Amino acid sequence: MSGPVRIAVLVSGGGTNLQALIDAERAGALGCGQIALVIASRPGVYALERARRAGIETAVVDRRTAADPDGEMAALLSAHRIDLVVLAGFLSILGEKVLERYTDRILNIHPALIPAFCGRGMYGLRVHEAVLRAGVKVTGATVHLVNEVVDGGRILLQKAVEVKEGDTPESLQRRVMEEAEWVLLPQAVRMMCDKWGGKS
Ligand code: GAR
Repeated sequence: MSGPVRIAVLVSGGGTNLQALIDAERAGALGCGQIALVIASRPGVYALERARRAGIETAVVDRRTAADPDGEMAALLSAHRIDLVVLAGFLSILGEKVLERYTDRILNIHPALIPAFCGRGMYGLRVHEAVLRAGVKVTGATVHLVNEVVDGGRILLQKAVEVKEGDTPESLQRRVMEEAEWVLLPQAVRMMCDKWGGKS
């Protein structure tokens, strides 16, 4: 093992999963993992504020305005010597330059038990709405490797969460975050950091 594993966290929203990673790093729970960069898919999201408060460098790659979003993302990751990419509520799709360069080094957190309630268009509250519509009694969260298939890469960790009588999409989302996402994501990042140990 040689030096820290430099992590980029990609975000699109409130950034509670990013916060769980920041807190874990502070508590020494990411092993040799170090959050070096936070990239948002649009400006103004609260996750960027969390990053700034933690003293982490930030950038924005907005698919709606960038000439070559895939190229820009790949260049940013290289410029910051990033070893590991973590999608934490990142709702944009990664292009092939990034996928090729970071094969087996990109993690995503999904708020359901893959292969249920996942795939294109299944994100955020929509997932929990679908879970409640289906009437299942157990849901959860999954951390998996990212490849070209949406939510299709190898599963690393999963945790089940009970669906309760009277749940709303919002109450279920909160329970899945508290009981599963904020626990699993730092664990998975640590697993990867222990495995990769500073190789770039
Ligand atoms: C989280 O629940 C995450 O699992 C989900 O978006 C939310 C982001 O919240 N991601 C997906 O649905 C990806 N398919 P956060 O910004 O507070 O971490």
